[in-house]
Formats: sequence, structure tokens, C-alpha cells
Amino acid sequence: MAEPPHHPSPFEKAKEAVRFLRKDLPESLQSPRVAIVCGSGLGGLADTVHGTLRAEYEYSAIPHFPCPTVSGHVGKLVFGFLGQNVPAVLMVGRTHYYEGHSIDSVTFPIRVFKLLGVDIVVLTNASGGLNSEYAVGDIVLLNDHIFFAGLAGIHPLRGPNADEFGVRFPPLSDAYDLDLRRFVHKAWKKVIPSDSKRRLHEGVYAFVGGPSYETRAECRMLRQLGADLVGMSTVPEIVVARHCGIRVLALSLVTNKAVLAPVPRGDDHLLQNSTASELGVILEEGKADHEEVLEAGRLAAVDMQRLVEQAIADIFEHR
Ligand code: HPA
Repeated sequence: MAEPPHHPSPFEKAKEAVRFLRKDLPESLQSPRVAIVCGSGLGGLADTVHGTLRAEYEYSAIPHFPCPTVSGHVGKLVFGFLGQNVPAVLMVGRTHYYEGHSIDSVTFPIRVFKLLGVDIVVLTNASGGLNSEYAVGDIVLLNDHIFFAGLAGIHPLRGPNADEFGVRFPPLSDAYDLDLRRFVHKAWKKVIPSDSKRRLHEGVYAFVGGPSYETRAECRMLRQLGADLVGMSTVPEIVVARHCGIRVLALSLVTNKAVLAPVPRGDDHLLQNSTASELGVILEEGKADHEEVLEAGRLAAVDMQRLVEQAIADIFEHR
């Protein structure tokens, strides 16, 4: 009788990816201490990796690694040193749930990091600001999240528990490491000139599935429920990182302001004599736009890089 097909467990899959990566990694990079996930437009962080020792792998070459489906986006893992010779692994380009990946394949890289020996993961992303105090270009240190999909059961830990990684019912009330957040606030003072318009906040991130941006009513709902930011990534990775005991730091770049004002009414007497193109102008205001998101990312990326680099240097200096 034929052997039943063997379906590797999440642990076996992650081990296979680690075996593949370690085959060619120099000794000093075999066990990176920190992993950085670079969000939209924030891949420049990988250029701050220094030293002659550096290794890169395209995601498509790594067993079980999810690949971005956006054409022209090559995802790659970069190994190298950051700050004062801290061995690091960086994900340049991430995959999103909206691309059609299952939620557990989106989070697979986190478990690979765990088995490589990573104890801190820094996640960066672009988001829409719901908090009226936030301006485009500001950076927000996440201190909590709202995960509607997860609450409804679209959850990366659904299914038999992977005991090798963590417990069945992991707590998340302390998901966003307070000690690490203190380092980021201190690093901000060191690297961002005091006359900079850019500000650092702390806030709550709401995960949405995307890929459409939110309606105005959805933005108002998210705000009323306590979210300061909205975005389409990061939270599933955070849940999986906390499950396996990795400490988490998450930074978000506000690339656009979500529109909270109700949509104008068709019977608004002030609008009755407006032309269709005048109505178009009114509706354009504050509309989320992918190009705008990328542009804000380009401008703020350098500050974000400096901040992360300094924070990592300081965190590891004390270890
Ligand atoms: N909504 C969701 N995701 C985003 C946004 C937004 O406004 N901006 C950048 N990513």
C-alpha cells in the first residue's frame, strides 16, 4: 500500500527554511539577534546593513517562503550587521493577506526568524492616520492593536497548536514591548533634529484586510473604537511573534490621513448648482491614493531608518 503523503508541520517547514539559509551563511550571521520587516517604501533600511559580510536570498529560493504577487516586487532576505555589529536579518518586501496568501503563510517568516535565534523583531509599515493629531510623515510607535479578522477567527494561530513555538492561548495584553518602546523615544531625541516637523507618537493600529482603502464610515467606526491608525499588515506577524516569545517593536509611518468627514449629501442645497467637475474636486479631498502613500514613504524613510538603527544600537549596547 502506498505511504500516505507527509504534510510537514509548521515547525518542520520552518526548520527546512533555516537549514537552507544556514547552508551558505557565514558563521557570524548564522544566528541573527534582530529581524526587521521593511514596509512599503522602507526597504532602504537594508542599505544601512554594513560590513563586507552580507548575504541575500530571494524569497522564491527559500523553501515555503511566501512571495509578493505584485509584479516587479522582488522580496529578499538580507543578512548583515546593524549598529554596533548586531547581526540582523531584514525582510525587504513583505507579503500581505490581500494578495491571496493564507494568513499563516504571511506569518511564516517570523517562525523562521525564531528558529534562527532572533529575539527581537522590528516591524515597519505604512498606515492611514485616523487620529486628528497625526500629520502625514509622522511616525507612530504601536502600543496596541485591533484585529477584527483575528477576533472573527481569520487568525494565524487557528488550527492545531504548534507546541514547539508556543502555548495554545497566548496573551497579547503586553504584546508591544514597553522596554523597547522607551529605547525608541530616546533614540528619537538623538537622531531627529528638534526643529523637525516630524513627530513621534504612540498609538493603536487597526488591521484591515484590504486591498481597498476604507470608506469614510469605516474610518469613523475605527476611530470610535479606539484606533489611531489603519493598515493592511503587521498584526498577524505580531501575533505569531508573541506566540513564540519574540519581543516586538512596531513602527508605522503615516502616509495619508483617513477621511472621517461624512460624504456630502446629494440633496445638499449648497451643491445643487455645482458642476460635476466641481463635485469631483470636493470628493478628491483627503482621498487615499497609492502614489501619495509611496511619496510620503520616500520622504520619511530616511528618518525612520535613522531611528531604527539608533534604537537597535542602543538596545544591544545594554546586552
Ligand atoms: N488604509 C489602509 N492601509 C493603508 C492606508 C490607509 O489609509 N495608508 C497606508 N496603508
